[in-house]
Amino acid sequence: MKPELSTNLCGIKLDNPTVLASGIIGNTGELLKRVGDEGAGAVTTKSISLKPWEGHPSPNVVELKNGLLNAMGLPNPGAEEFIEEIKIAKEGDALVIVSVVESSIQGYADVISVLESAEPDMYELNASCPNVKGGQDISRSPELAGKLLEKACSVTNAPISFKISPDAGKLTDVARAVDEAGASAITAVNTLPAKAIDSKTNLPILSNTRGGLSGELLRPIALRCVSEISDAVEIPIIGTGGVSTGQHAAEMISAGARAVGIGTAVWHHGVGVFKKVSDELSSIMESRGFENVGAIEHGI
Ligand code: DHB
Repeated sequence: MKPELSTNLCGIKLDNPTVLASGIIGNTGELLKRVGDEGAGAVTTKSISLKPWEGHPSPNVVELKNGLLNAMGLPNPGAEEFIEEIKIAKEGDALVIVSVVESSIQGYADVISVLESAEPDMYELNASCPNVKGGQDISRSPELAGKLLEKACSVTNAPISFKISPDAGKLTDVARAVDEAGASAITAVNTLPAKAIDSKTNLPILSNTRGGLSGELLRPIALRCVSEISDAVEIPIIGTGGVSTGQHAAEMISAGARAVGIGTAVWHHGVGVFKKVSDELSSIMESRGFENVGAIEHGI
């Protein structure tokens, strides 16, 4: 019998545990729908703010040997403009998670209030962006993170995931604070603040001078964060960081994740990566006798 790949995220069934991570190609409804058609169990939009944000000028991406460094500066068209894109994304099979960013706690609530008419399946709060001023402040403070969740939960009944920074010194304190304040899930992790210097000029390559590191280089750090968080809280974790194969997904689930975010691998391998990861995960489960995704968590 084929292993069962479906998983339950905050009471919502995903056909398989793969989730398009925020920031990669989630900027139009059609693209999000396509990623769902290509096999993602859920898709996360780019982070949306209240008004349009322009983002940073290029160079804003650097390809490293085993990772990607980016400082896009969260360009997005603003909440009003994005409502239609969410509605289009929701026509697809995948669960639609809308990522939200703002520069104050009230701001996050304002964005959610505008987006409610599109009825997202879930929100993800990006309070851990390394590339805008103060972008990681909330994810580094259990008090602020708890306040953010309380405020966000007061304006929507949809489940909310908190995207946490791998750079948060008080990782488990922040995880407990958002859990207690009403988070339905934690997305672990966002990119890690990092820097690349041009070897000829000795100047920073990125216009923003620093950026967020993702891909292979991030995976061991993400696995460590997921395992620490899963020891601290009961709410499900969307384990994100450097996953590009079924084995990586199995490792993430075994570290404590319920679902698995995929971002940089889409940049390198295209949208076929979701089906590839699911198929490889299914083969691993079959060969090890795991009948469902939950069995991996306890048995690998
Ligand atoms: C950007 C935002 C993020 O949350 C991240 O992890 C990396 C980059 C950005 O748009 O600059």
